[in-house]
Amino acid sequence: MPARIIDGKLIAQQSREALALQVAEFTTATGVTPRLAAVLVGDDPASQVYVSSKQKACASVGMASDLFRLHTTTTQAELLELVDRLNHDPSIHGILVQLPLPSHIDPEAVLDATHPMKDVDCFHAENVGLLIQGRPRYLPCTPHGVQVLLEASGVSTDGAHVVVLGRSDIVGKPLANLLALKGPGGNATVTLCHSRTRNIASFTRQADILVAAIGQPLFVKADMVREGAVVIDVGTNRLDGKLVGDVAFHEVSEKAAAITPVPGGVGPMTIAMLLKNTLTAARLQTK
Ligand code: GUN
Repeated sequence: MPARIIDGKLIAQQSREALALQVAEFTTATGVTPRLAAVLVGDDPASQVYVSSKQKACASVGMASDLFRLHTTTTQAELLELVDRLNHDPSIHGILVQLPLPSHIDPEAVLDATHPMKDVDCFHAENVGLLIQGRPRYLPCTPHGVQVLLEASGVSTDGAHVVVLGRSDIVGKPLANLLALKGPGGNATVTLCHSRTRNIASFTRQADILVAAIGQPLFVKADMVREGAVVIDVGTNRLDGKLVGDVAFHEVSEKAAAITPVPGGVGPMTIAMLLKNTLTAARLQTK
């Protein structure tokens, strides 16, 4: 039987609707509008699309956003100066520096410089540390988006074997930690596979839930997936001008119980969770 398609677009829209009510309540009670500052360095077309989607999404839930567009040749010192200015601006609650940055800028230096209270991406070492200790300030956007997708689709992680492919700082590492935490949305047994894992299929075939986040188009084939598994595809790759995930959707959807499409799966959830963090940031910074 073909897999149930997990509709990330719809679930993200429901998250945004719930959030819009919370934003309205917060703004009425405090007179403060949550505000996100998005920083885009250079003219990478995909990054431009992401940042513009994030701004539109802010407006759709009643939050404000500012875009700071810097030229590709911006120096690291200039970028750090802007981050410092945003750190000290009390009207800005969240700061998002879109990655990747041009190669002459050290992303760690920029992430370290972002005030941890305004770090709505949950990339700062302090926030990553709090997350791993099970007392998160912010939840990382894409990993939390995956968690909400599973929950909204009635897929429990409790006691499940989740195999995560990819050990990136943005998805694989924080997701593995989040799923292993005690409590709802966690309690999973997590295996983290990566480019140096031997016989990767021997792990993926054991997964109750398989999450692909390696950035390799159509990497996960049907013979790597257990019959009845839930497959979450975090990949966004361009292949012959088309957007495809890390999963060979057509063949895997014949075998899986449920699967996310690309586009329309995890992508919209990432943005919805960013909005959630921006409201949390505004709450934490409003007395
Ligand atoms: N580039 C790819 N994903 C992300 C993300 O979640 N946040 C930021 N800031 N940049 C990204």
